[in-house]
Amino acid sequence: MVDPKIAVIGSGYVGLVDAACLSKKYRVICNDIDGRKIEQINAAHAPFYEPKLNDVLKKSVMSGNLTATNDLNEALKDASLILISVGTPSMENGEIMLDYVSKAAEGIAKNLDHYSIIVTRSTVIPGTTNNIVKKTIERISGRKDGIDFGVAFVPEFLREGNAVNDFMMPDRIVIGSDDEKVVSYLKMFFKDFYNGFPSDKIIAMSTESAELVKYSSNAFLAIKISFANEMAELAEKIPGVDVVDVMNAVGLDNRIGRKFLGVGAGFGGSCLPKDLKALKHFSYANDVKPMLVEAALQRNDLQANHIVELASKELGDLSDKRIAILGLSFKPETSDIREAPSLKIIQKLLNRGATNIIACDPKAIDGVKSELGNKIEYTTDPDIALRGADCAIVITEWEIFKRIGSNKFTELMNKPVVIDGRRIYNAQDYEKKIKLIAIGRNS
Ligand SMILES: NC(=O)c1ccc[n+]([C@@H]2O[C@H](COP(=O)([O-])OP(=O)(O)OC[C@H]3O[C@@H](n4cnc5c(N)ncnc54)[C@H](O)[C@@H]3O)[C@@H](O)[C@H]2O)c1
Repeated sequence: MVDPKIAVIGSGYVGLVDAACLSKKYRVICNDIDGRKIEQINAAHAPFYEPKLNDVLKKSVMSGNLTATNDLNEALKDASLILISVGTPSMENGEIMLDYVSKAAEGIAKNLDHYSIIVTRSTVIPGTTNNIVKKTIERISGRKDGIDFGVAFVPEFLREGNAVNDFMMPDRIVIGSDDEKVVSYLKMFFKDFYNGFPSDKIIAMSTESAELVKYSSNAFLAIKISFANEMAELAEKIPGVDVVDVMNAVGLDNRIGRKFLGVGAGFGGSCLPKDLKALKHFSYANDVKPMLVEAALQRNDLQANHIVELASKELGDLSDKRIAILGLSFKPETSDIREAPSLKIIQKLLNRGATNIIACDPKAIDGVKSELGNKIEYTTDPDIALRGADCAIVITEWEIFKRIGSNKFTELMNKPVVIDGRRIYNAQDYEKKIKLIAIGRNS
């Protein structure tokens, strides 16, 4: 295979992980409109926390395989493959906002002077790659799709917190393109990058089908989570029932599987909430009532409140209680707080009069501080968070919180009341020492 030169437009969680991993083998140039990110990448420092990313980045920047620029013309020079991984946030009504994708396509149109394959990696509603990316490039550049450039949509399935592993060992690769030349190039490209990839796990389909694959996958995962949370609320009402036992047994059915049946404060992050809202809006626009998607969203909206209810019921008046929040990031092993349940829970506690909240997280404090400022205290040390607290609420299942033994809670807390919002503590062991209120368990 001819040594490809890859340009990545949008160097956030997806773009930078893609760029860093691909630069293990190929030359990659990152582009972003955020000058600070460009400086950090060139200094071999990831602008956010993601396990393994800094190591990969360091090696590639030092070898010269990875560089970053905010000059799009420089990024696209000689690029044989261009990945678009800009953000696609929600608008006020939930509809997907495609302005960044349009701007990226405009930039490509103005700067591309040779044949290149343009691949959308951002999550976009069906029709976006053909109707926005392709048409914008054709309209502005006068170049012809299929002759002067090619387009495809290749969904990114990486999970933050495990993104490098996910990129290096994907379950499947979906190639959405209506251009056979593009499909065969991308198949060859991925087989080359992964030193061979099982042919039955590289699936080619129409561009729009591939765009819908990404939404269907995320919607299905969200529905599983919301289903487990619904069963958790029911379990709390029935003496003797523990939802974790129930889901363990349900998940052993290999038609169902155990993953994404964990109960807790609900799904957050940059993908599931936004993608479900976009899918809901897109479904209505196509005269389809998205009943399951709506139900998953509605159930999810209840979860933060449910955790706050559990705490309030136990504590009564919150104004004179010190509350320790264990976990701010939307899931462990990331600094990402986009749509994090912790933010909703803290806000609800503040609204109910809590004035003495301390939040603990190993990586996500900076982001929360810039949103909540000095309304709460912050620490990375669980001991500091627990000292003198009347209640601790586990929101994110970081390893450091799993390691807190029951003795530690009794030793440090004013009253050892723990709301286990992620089911990380074994009730039989902990209940002997502390008041443990576990989501999904009748106690
Ligand atoms: N984060 C995830 O776990 C994940 C997983 C799969 C797919 N996705 C999808 O990937 C896309 C990107 O997500 P993300 O989490 O990386 O977002 P992000 O906000 O971390 O990164 C997007 C980057 O694009 C840059 N950008 C915006 N417009 C640009 C332009 N015209 N030119 C150059 N750069 C530009 C921004 O400055 C930002 O750095 C979204 O569509 C998202 O839904 C995200």
